[in-house]
Amino acid sequence: MAWPVDRPRRLRDHSVLRQMVSETVVQAVDLIYPIFIVTGSGRKEPIESLPGQFHLSPDEAARVAAEFRWLGGRAVMLFGLPSYKDETGSSGSDPQGPVPLAIRQIKEAVPDLAVITDVCLCEYTDHGHCGLISGTRILNDPTLPHLAAQALTHVRAGADMVAPSDMMDGRVGAIREELDHNGFEHIPIMSYSAKYASAFYGPFRAAADSAPAFGDRRGYQMDPANRREALYEVRLDLEEGADIVMVKPAGPYLDIIRQVADFSDRPVAAYQVSGEFAMLRHAAAAGALDYRRAALESLIGIKRAGADLILTYLAPEVLPWL
Ligand code: PBG
Repeated sequence: MAWPVDRPRRLRDHSVLRQMVSETVVQAVDLIYPIFIVTGSGRKEPIESLPGQFHLSPDEAARVAAEFRWLGGRAVMLFGLPSYKDETGSSGSDPQGPVPLAIRQIKEAVPDLAVITDVCLCEYTDHGHCGLISGTRILNDPTLPHLAAQALTHVRAGADMVAPSDMMDGRVGAIREELDHNGFEHIPIMSYSAKYASAFYGPFRAAADSAPAFGDRRGYQMDPANRREALYEVRLDLEEGADIVMVKPAGPYLDIIRQVADFSDRPVAAYQVSGEFAMLRHAAAAGALDYRRAALESLIGIKRAGADLILTYLAPEVLPWL
């Protein structure tokens, strides 16, 4: 049976009927807002590479978190810019570092906001790589205790969930063991499982001051050409105890999100990264598209692909539009 009996347009005509049959909804609770924490106090400095985003000292981060909660936001993800860097990224597990201090201040100001932290060494190492190095090699196993220590520091400060983004093999298991040994078996891990070596992280590296001093991240992040390998990574992370698995970036990897969503028996997150956000901003500024509609459409596409959660710099802007 087809036209004239089948007429798909019947359910598109009336705006209420159209909404009734809408298959995908983006909700406030689906969105996680990434923010960048610097040392000191009273600092709220615009990040040039990420229009509308700021470097925030812990006190200002608490203020931004409160505003975000007031808009209906439910979760933030913290990145740190420490006051010192060394070869092992030791400032990442300093309890007086920007992230632990911000966790405490946000928790105090907005107790019902979930605070998630990114766990990685690249913001804390002087060479900008996500693991320890020997010459120009990125070491895997010696990196794991440092990641575990950083995760424990965040959780001790009050983080509700940790999110390792380094792409070392075995880090989810190492972090799980460290948290369990210290009485934090109830704290979940959201793993950046299928994290690709992407050009779309460009604006973030300027924002987080985490560009590698030599080489690139292709020795540990995934090749954008690979699909099967994403399932390999996801399976291993689930076996090591990941509670949520993530695909990153999101927009150029919707096929991977769909595949992971079909495969995983645990929730799936997708990270709409800095370059995706910057593209929308710059295209809108150039008059190429309607920012509001394009922003919402980008998020609907990511949810439709299968993401339960979306990490996005758009979060505070789109909340009033949902
Ligand atoms: C740290 C990390 C990066 C991002 C999140 N965690 C950068 C990288 O891997 O180089 C990128 C986030 C973004 O682009 O918005 N490893």
